[in-house]
Amino acid sequence: MSVMSTTLDTDAIAAAQAHPNIALIKYWGKRDVPLNLPVVGSLSITLDTLWTRTSVRFGTDLSADRLSLNGREDAKQLRKVSACLDLLRARAGTQARAEVVSRNNFPTGAGLASSASGFAALVMAADAALGLGLPHATLSEFARRGSGSASRSIFGGYVEWALGERADGEDSVARPILDADAWPLRVAVAITSTAEKAIGSTEGMNRTAETSPYQRAWIDTQEADLADARAAIVARDFERLADISEFSCLKMHALAMAAKPGLLYWNAATVAAMHAVRALRASGVPVFFTIDAGPQVKAICLPEAAGQVAAALREVPGVLSVLETGLGGAAMRIPVADAVAA
Ligand code: PMV
Repeated sequence: MSVMSTTLDTDAIAAAQAHPNIALIKYWGKRDVPLNLPVVGSLSITLDTLWTRTSVRFGTDLSADRLSLNGREDAKQLRKVSACLDLLRARAGTQARAEVVSRNNFPTGAGLASSASGFAALVMAADAALGLGLPHATLSEFARRGSGSASRSIFGGYVEWALGERADGEDSVARPILDADAWPLRVAVAITSTAEKAIGSTEGMNRTAETSPYQRAWIDTQEADLADARAAIVARDFERLADISEFSCLKMHALAMAAKPGLLYWNAATVAAMHAVRALRASGVPVFFTIDAGPQVKAICLPEAAGQVAAALREVPGVLSVLETGLGGAAMRIPVADAVAA
Protein backbone atom coordinates (compact mmCIF):
# COMPACT_ATOMS: atom_id res chain seq x y z
CA MET A 1 0.00 0.00 0.00
CA SER A 2 1.39 3.44 -0.87
CA VAL A 3 1.85 5.84 1.98
CA MET A 4 0.80 9.38 1.28
CA SER A 5 1.18 12.13 3.78
CA THR A 6 -2.08 13.30 5.25
CA THR A 7 -2.91 16.26 7.40
CA LEU A 8 -4.28 14.98 10.67
CA ASP A 9 -6.80 16.73 12.86
CA THR A 10 -5.10 18.12 15.94
CA ASP A 11 -7.48 15.97 17.98
CA ALA A 12 -6.59 12.61 16.37
CA ILE A 13 -6.95 11.04 19.78
CA ALA A 14 -9.04 8.18 21.11
CA ALA A 15 -8.97 5.60 23.89
CA ALA A 16 -9.97 1.99 24.34
CA GLN A 17 -10.16 -0.68 27.00
CA ALA A 18 -9.46 -4.39 26.59
CA HIS A 19 -9.34 -7.33 28.96
CA PRO A 20 -6.73 -10.08 29.24
CA ASN A 21 -7.76 -13.55 28.19
CA ILE A 22 -6.78 -17.00 29.41
CA ALA A 23 -6.34 -19.84 26.95
CA LEU A 24 -8.10 -23.11 27.77
CA ILE A 25 -6.75 -24.77 24.63
CA LYS A 26 -3.26 -23.35 24.44
CA TYR A 27 -1.33 -21.52 21.76
CA TRP A 28 2.36 -22.54 21.81
CA GLY A 29 4.58 -22.33 18.72
CA LYS A 30 4.90 -19.96 15.74
CA ARG A 31 5.05 -20.96 12.11
CA ASP A 32 6.00 -17.37 11.22
CA VAL A 33 7.75 -15.36 13.93
CA PRO A 34 7.47 -11.79 12.52
CA LEU A 35 3.78 -12.27 11.68
CA ASN A 36 3.03 -14.20 14.89
CA LEU A 37 1.35 -16.99 12.97
CA PRO A 38 0.69 -19.97 15.22
CA VAL A 39 1.32 -23.66 14.60
CA VAL A 40 -2.01 -24.46 16.27
CA GLY A 41 -5.41 -22.85 16.79
CA SER A 42 -6.38 -21.92 20.35
CA LEU A 43 -9.42 -21.14 22.47
CA SER A 44 -9.75 -18.73 25.39
CA ILE A 45 -11.97 -16.93 27.85
CA THR A 46 -11.85 -13.14 28.18
CA LEU A 47 -11.84 -11.78 31.75
CA ASP A 48 -13.78 -8.83 33.09
CA THR A 49 -12.38 -7.14 36.21
CA LEU A 50 -8.85 -6.86 34.84
CA TRP A 51 -8.20 -4.32 32.11
CA THR A 52 -5.75 -2.27 30.08
CA ARG A 53 -6.84 1.28 29.23
CA THR A 54 -4.93 3.02 26.48
CA SER A 55 -5.12 6.39 24.78
CA VAL A 56 -3.43 7.08 21.46
CA ARG A 57 -2.82 10.56 20.07
CA PHE A 58 -1.39 10.96 16.60
CA GLY A 59 0.23 14.36 16.14
CA THR A 60 2.22 16.03 13.42
CA ASP A 61 4.05 17.81 16.27
CA LEU A 62 5.63 14.52 17.42
CA SER A 63 9.00 13.47 15.98
CA ALA A 64 8.90 9.90 17.38
CA ASP A 65 6.44 7.49 18.95
CA ARG A 66 6.26 7.65 22.72
CA LEU A 67 4.93 5.13 25.19
CA SER A 68 4.03 5.54 28.81
CA LEU A 69 3.13 2.25 30.50
CA ASN A 70 1.74 2.43 34.03
CA GLY A 71 3.04 5.97 34.40
CA ARG A 72 6.58 5.28 33.16
CA GLU A 73 8.27 5.70 29.80
CA ASP A 74 8.81 2.20 28.43
CA ALA A 75 11.55 1.92 25.81
CA LYS A 76 11.48 -1.90 25.83
CA GLN A 77 7.90 -2.20 24.60
CA LEU A 78 8.09 0.87 22.33
CA ARG A 79 9.57 -0.96 19.32
CA LYS A 80 6.71 -3.48 19.23
CA VAL A 81 4.13 -0.76 19.80
CA SER A 82 5.58 1.31 16.94
CA ALA A 83 5.57 -1.71 14.62
CA CYS A 84 1.92 -2.37 15.47
CA LEU A 85 0.99 1.30 14.94
CA ASP A 86 2.74 1.17 11.54
CA LEU A 87 0.05 -1.26 10.37
CA LEU A 88 -2.66 1.28 11.18
CA ARG A 89 -0.64 4.22 9.83
CA ALA A 90 -0.28 2.36 6.52
CA ARG A 91 -4.07 1.91 6.33
CA ALA A 92 -4.65 5.58 7.14
CA GLY A 93 -1.95 6.83 4.76
CA THR A 94 -0.17 8.81 7.43
CA GLN A 95 3.27 8.83 8.94
CA ALA A 96 2.28 10.84 11.99
CA ARG A 97 3.93 9.65 15.19
CA ALA A 98 1.88 8.78 18.23
CA GLU A 99 1.82 9.35 21.95
CA VAL A 100 0.52 6.24 23.73
CA VAL A 101 -0.52 6.26 27.37
CA SER A 102 -1.44 2.85 28.74
CA ARG A 103 -2.12 1.42 32.16
CA ASN A 104 -3.16 -1.90 33.62
CA ASN A 105 -5.09 -2.50 36.83
CA PHE A 106 -3.21 -5.80 37.37
CA PRO A 107 0.49 -6.83 37.63
CA THR A 108 2.33 -6.49 34.30
CA GLY A 109 4.58 -9.24 32.96
CA ALA A 110 3.73 -11.96 35.47
CA GLY A 111 1.86 -14.46 33.33
CA LEU A 112 -1.39 -12.52 33.31
CA ALA A 113 -1.36 -11.70 29.61
CA SER A 114 -0.95 -7.94 29.91
CA SER A 115 0.41 -8.01 26.35
CA ALA A 116 -2.91 -9.49 25.17
CA SER A 117 -5.09 -6.75 26.63
CA GLY A 118 -2.38 -4.19 25.84
CA PHE A 119 -2.18 -4.76 22.08
CA ALA A 120 -5.95 -5.22 21.77
CA ALA A 121 -6.54 -1.85 23.46
CA LEU A 122 -3.76 -0.25 21.39
CA VAL A 123 -5.14 -1.24 17.98
CA MET A 124 -8.69 -0.35 18.94
CA ALA A 125 -7.67 3.10 20.20
CA ALA A 126 -5.41 3.76 17.20
CA ASP A 127 -8.15 2.66 14.78
CA ALA A 128 -10.54 5.13 16.40
CA ALA A 129 -8.00 7.96 16.58
CA LEU A 130 -7.29 7.61 12.86
CA GLY A 131 -11.00 7.30 12.04
CA LEU A 132 -10.42 4.02 10.21
CA GLY A 133 -13.36 1.96 11.51
CA LEU A 134 -11.66 -1.31 10.54
CA PRO A 135 -13.62 -4.56 10.95
CA HIS A 136 -12.99 -6.49 14.17
CA ALA A 137 -11.31 -9.31 12.22
CA THR A 138 -8.69 -6.83 10.97
CA LEU A 139 -8.20 -5.41 14.48
CA SER A 140 -7.69 -9.00 15.67
CA GLU A 141 -5.10 -9.54 12.92
CA PHE A 142 -3.23 -6.34 13.83
CA ALA A 143 -3.38 -7.12 17.57
CA ARG A 144 -1.95 -10.58 16.77
CA ARG A 145 1.08 -8.90 15.18
CA GLY A 146 1.83 -7.26 18.54
CA SER A 147 1.31 -10.42 20.60
CA GLY A 148 -0.32 -13.62 19.37
CA SER A 149 -2.78 -13.98 22.22
CA ALA A 150 -3.88 -10.33 21.77
CA SER A 151 -5.84 -11.45 18.70
CA ARG A 152 -8.30 -13.07 21.14
CA SER A 153 -8.69 -10.03 23.45
CA ILE A 154 -10.52 -8.07 20.74
CA PHE A 155 -13.55 -10.23 21.58
CA GLY A 156 -15.39 -11.07 24.79
CA GLY A 157 -16.55 -14.34 26.34
CA TYR A 158 -15.40 -17.55 24.69
CA VAL A 159 -13.09 -16.90 21.74
CA GLU A 160 -11.29 -19.06 19.20
CA TRP A 161 -8.19 -17.93 17.30
CA ALA A 162 -8.00 -19.77 13.98
CA LEU A 163 -4.79 -21.39 12.80
CA GLY A 164 -5.42 -20.06 9.28
CA GLU A 165 -3.76 -21.22 6.08
CA ARG A 166 -2.58 -18.09 4.34
CA ALA A 167 1.07 -17.08 4.33
CA ASP A 168 0.12 -13.44 4.96
CA GLY A 169 -1.90 -14.40 8.05
CA GLU A 170 -5.08 -12.61 7.07
CA ASP A 171 -7.16 -15.65 8.03
CA SER A 172 -5.38 -16.28 11.32
CA VAL A 173 -7.74 -14.14 13.38
CA ALA A 174 -9.99 -14.67 16.37
CA ARG A 175 -13.79 -14.89 16.48
CA PRO A 176 -16.23 -15.07 19.37
CA ILE A 177 -17.92 -18.43 19.90
CA LEU A 178 -20.15 -17.74 22.93
CA ASP A 179 -20.99 -14.62 24.95
CA ALA A 180 -19.78 -14.37 28.53
CA ASP A 181 -23.39 -14.01 29.78
CA ALA A 182 -24.40 -17.27 28.13
CA TRP A 183 -22.13 -19.25 30.50
CA PRO A 184 -20.71 -16.96 33.20
CA LEU A 185 -17.88 -19.02 34.66
CA ARG A 186 -15.70 -17.48 37.36
CA VAL A 187 -11.89 -17.36 37.59
CA ALA A 188 -9.60 -17.18 40.62
CA VAL A 189 -5.98 -16.34 39.81
CA ALA A 190 -3.51 -17.55 42.42
CA ILE A 191 -0.47 -15.27 42.29
CA THR A 192 2.60 -17.23 43.36
CA SER A 193 5.28 -14.74 42.23
CA THR A 194 5.29 -11.15 41.00
CA ALA A 195 8.74 -11.38 39.37
CA GLU A 196 9.06 -10.76 35.64
CA LYS A 197 9.31 -14.11 33.88
CA ALA A 198 12.80 -15.23 32.91
CA ILE A 199 11.98 -16.60 29.46
CA GLY A 200 9.42 -14.81 27.33
CA SER A 201 6.86 -16.68 25.26
CA THR A 202 8.56 -16.10 21.87
CA GLU A 203 11.90 -17.43 23.07
CA GLY A 204 10.18 -20.31 24.85
CA MET A 205 8.12 -21.23 21.79
CA ASN A 206 11.10 -21.10 19.46
CA ARG A 207 13.26 -23.21 21.75
CA THR A 208 10.43 -25.72 22.05
CA ALA A 209 9.92 -25.93 18.28
CA GLU A 210 13.65 -26.44 17.69
CA THR A 211 14.36 -28.98 20.42
CA SER A 212 11.28 -30.64 21.92
CA PRO A 213 10.70 -34.16 20.58
CA TYR A 214 6.98 -33.71 21.22
CA GLN A 215 6.43 -30.77 18.85
CA ARG A 216 4.95 -32.90 16.04
CA ALA A 217 2.53 -34.64 18.42
CA TRP A 218 1.50 -31.25 19.84
CA ILE A 219 0.57 -29.98 16.39
CA ASP A 220 -1.13 -33.21 15.33
CA THR A 221 -3.40 -33.48 18.39
CA GLN A 222 -4.58 -29.87 18.71
CA GLU A 223 -7.55 -29.99 16.35
CA ALA A 224 -9.20 -32.78 18.38
CA ASP A 225 -8.77 -30.74 21.58
CA LEU A 226 -10.31 -27.67 19.98
CA ALA A 227 -13.29 -29.71 18.77
CA ASP A 228 -13.75 -31.18 22.24
CA ALA A 229 -13.62 -27.76 23.93
CA ARG A 230 -16.01 -26.20 21.40
CA ALA A 231 -18.50 -29.02 21.99
CA ALA A 232 -18.18 -28.65 25.78
CA ILE A 233 -18.83 -24.90 25.54
CA VAL A 234 -21.84 -25.26 23.25
CA ALA A 235 -23.31 -27.89 25.63
CA ARG A 236 -22.27 -25.93 28.79
CA ASP A 237 -20.69 -29.21 29.90
CA PHE A 238 -18.36 -28.14 32.73
CA GLU A 239 -16.80 -31.55 33.40
CA ARG A 240 -15.94 -31.97 29.74
CA LEU A 241 -14.42 -28.49 29.52
CA ALA A 242 -12.48 -29.14 32.75
CA ASP A 243 -10.98 -32.38 31.43
CA ILE A 244 -9.92 -31.02 28.05
CA SER A 245 -8.58 -27.74 29.47
CA GLU A 246 -6.35 -29.41 32.08
CA PHE A 247 -5.22 -31.82 29.40
CA SER A 248 -4.22 -28.99 27.04
CA CYS A 249 -2.44 -27.11 29.83
CA LEU A 250 -0.42 -30.10 31.02
CA LYS A 251 0.33 -31.12 27.44
CA MET A 252 1.72 -27.65 26.65
CA HIS A 253 3.90 -27.68 29.75
CA ALA A 254 5.10 -31.25 29.07
CA LEU A 255 6.02 -30.15 25.53
CA ALA A 256 7.95 -27.15 26.85
CA MET A 257 9.60 -29.13 29.67
CA ALA A 258 10.95 -31.50 27.03
CA ALA A 259 12.78 -28.65 25.24
CA LYS A 260 16.59 -28.39 25.61
CA PRO A 261 17.19 -26.87 28.09
CA GLY A 262 13.75 -27.62 29.51
CA LEU A 263 11.34 -24.79 30.22
CA LEU A 264 10.00 -24.94 33.75
CA TYR A 265 7.52 -22.17 34.45
CA TRP A 266 6.25 -23.54 37.76
CA ASN A 267 7.41 -22.97 41.31
CA ALA A 268 6.53 -24.98 44.42
CA ALA A 269 3.37 -22.95 45.07
CA THR A 270 2.23 -23.49 41.46
CA VAL A 271 2.32 -27.24 42.03
CA ALA A 272 0.68 -26.97 45.45
CA ALA A 273 -2.15 -24.90 43.93
CA MET A 274 -2.67 -27.49 41.18
CA HIS A 275 -3.02 -30.19 43.83
CA ALA A 276 -5.43 -28.02 45.80
CA VAL A 277 -7.63 -27.56 42.72
CA ARG A 278 -7.55 -31.29 42.00
CA ALA A 279 -8.49 -32.06 45.63
CA LEU A 280 -11.41 -29.64 45.46
CA ARG A 281 -12.65 -31.23 42.26
CA ALA A 282 -12.30 -34.72 43.72
CA SER A 283 -14.53 -33.60 46.60
CA GLY A 284 -17.23 -32.49 44.16
CA VAL A 285 -16.39 -28.80 43.64
CA PRO A 286 -16.73 -27.80 39.96
CA VAL A 287 -13.27 -26.34 39.31
CA PHE A 288 -10.22 -26.92 37.09
CA PHE A 289 -6.86 -25.22 36.61
CA THR A 290 -4.87 -23.80 33.76
CA ILE A 291 -1.37 -22.25 33.70
CA ASP A 292 0.39 -20.15 31.06
CA ALA A 293 4.07 -19.32 30.54
CA GLY A 294 4.49 -18.29 34.16
CA PRO A 295 3.91 -19.50 37.72
CA GLN A 296 0.34 -18.28 38.34
CA VAL A 297 -2.49 -20.80 38.61
CA LYS A 298 -5.84 -19.86 37.14
CA ALA A 299 -8.72 -21.81 38.66
CA ILE A 300 -11.91 -21.78 36.60
CA CYS A 301 -15.16 -22.72 38.28
CA LEU A 302 -18.94 -22.54 38.20
CA PRO A 303 -20.25 -19.35 39.88
CA GLU A 304 -21.56 -21.10 43.01
CA ALA A 305 -18.06 -22.46 43.79
CA ALA A 306 -16.19 -19.15 43.41
CA GLY A 307 -15.98 -18.23 47.11
CA GLN A 308 -14.85 -21.68 48.18
CA VAL A 309 -12.23 -21.93 45.41
CA ALA A 310 -10.69 -18.52 46.20
CA ALA A 311 -10.65 -19.32 49.94
CA ALA A 312 -8.96 -22.69 49.34
CA LEU A 313 -6.28 -21.12 47.11
CA ARG A 314 -5.54 -18.46 49.74
CA GLU A 315 -4.66 -21.28 52.14
CA VAL A 316 -2.07 -22.83 49.80
CA PRO A 317 1.50 -22.26 51.09
CA GLY A 318 3.32 -19.82 48.82
CA VAL A 319 0.20 -18.27 47.28
CA LEU A 320 0.72 -14.53 47.73
CA SER A 321 -2.75 -13.35 46.75
CA VAL A 322 -5.82 -14.39 44.79
CA LEU A 323 -7.56 -12.23 42.19
CA GLU A 324 -11.20 -13.03 41.50
CA THR A 325 -12.89 -12.21 38.21
CA GLY A 326 -15.69 -13.23 35.91
CA LEU A 327 -15.82 -13.40 32.15
CA GLY A 328 -15.89 -10.11 30.32
CA GLY A 329 -16.73 -8.39 27.12
CA ALA A 330 -14.99 -7.30 23.98
CA ALA A 331 -12.46 -4.51 23.64
CA MET A 332 -14.26 -1.19 23.35
CA ARG A 333 -13.75 2.53 22.98
CA ILE A 334 -13.82 4.57 26.17
CA PRO A 335 -13.63 8.32 26.83
CA VAL A 336 -10.02 9.57 26.72
CA ALA A 337 -10.43 10.99 30.24
CA ASP A 338 -11.13 7.47 31.58
CA ALA A 339 -7.94 6.10 30.02
CA VAL A 340 -5.58 8.69 31.44
CA ALA A 341 -7.25 9.20 34.85
CA ALA A 342 -5.26 7.97 37.85
O1 PMV B 1 0.72 -14.17 23.01
P1 PMV B 1 1.96 -14.57 23.71
O2 PMV B 1 3.16 -14.46 22.86
O3 PMV B 1 2.09 -13.85 25.03
O4 PMV B 1 1.85 -16.15 24.07
C1 PMV B 1 0.88 -16.68 24.93
C2 PMV B 1 1.18 -18.10 25.25
C3 PMV B 1 0.31 -18.75 26.33
O5 PMV B 1 -0.21 -17.76 27.21
C4 PMV B 1 1.17 -19.69 27.16
C5 PMV B 1 -0.83 -19.57 25.74
C6 PMV B 1 -1.99 -18.81 25.19
O6 PMV B 1 -2.66 -19.37 24.30
O7 PMV B 1 -2.28 -17.68 25.62
